[in-house]
Amino acid sequence: MENFKKAAAEEAVKYVKSGMVVGLGTGSTTYFAIKKIGELLQEGKLNNIVGIPSSIQSENLAKEFKIPLTTFDQHTEIDITIDGADEVDESLNLIKGGGGALLREKVLAQASKKEIIIVDESKLSKVLGLKWAVPIEVIRFAVNVEIQFLESIGGKPKLRMSDNNRPFITDEGNYILDTNFGEIEKPEILTQQLENRAGIVEHGLFINLASEVIVATTEGIKKIVKNSV
Ligand code: A5P
Repeated sequence: MENFKKAAAEEAVKYVKSGMVVGLGTGSTTYFAIKKIGELLQEGKLNNIVGIPSSIQSENLAKEFKIPLTTFDQHTEIDITIDGADEVDESLNLIKGGGGALLREKVLAQASKKEIIIVDESKLSKVLGLKWAVPIEVIRFAVNVEIQFLESIGGKPKLRMSDNNRPFITDEGNYILDTNFGEIEKPEILTQQLENRAGIVEHGLFINLASEVIVATTEGIKKIVKNSV
């Protein structure tokens, strides 16, 4: 599995050119992309790259691999973001947030000219929700109200816990309700329902945000480009 992740990540890094502002996603697949960008910078094969990390985790990795960082105070547009996903459907819609970074990841995706998603083939699904619950980030104040709301629309929310048996806290200080909706036939409608709620800060349905998905398969790399599906 690690080799698949690495292969997809290194294919995505080929899109990164000198001088670009690069969005750095979060997760075990993106790890290989951050590492590779760092190596290319050290070897002088890439120059003048600045990264915007989507989490404290990817910020630390970028520092480890010596990628210069910037913020939205300096740049409000990202040339290319490379990120992972938990589930990908045939229209390139995604479920993200398995690592808890969905909020900043979505900010990056919306600020990016190109959003490249890197996965292995186990993440592909006909319909979203078959493999992964939707991570829903809620403010702590509203958690019980939003649990009740999610149940009322057919979801089965579960408060994400940390290893220390306390609720998982996101980089923005919120809770996550991993909510199983079963097969999500109409993700756009669910998106609308979630976005109408004051206590829900963000959710892991990424609709129409991926420009391209790079899939590492047993038969090699496969690219699925938006509009070609
Ligand atoms: C982080 O919050 C997520 O959106 C990740 O991008 C996603 O969970 C994929 O992670 P892996 O590459 O570790 O499977």
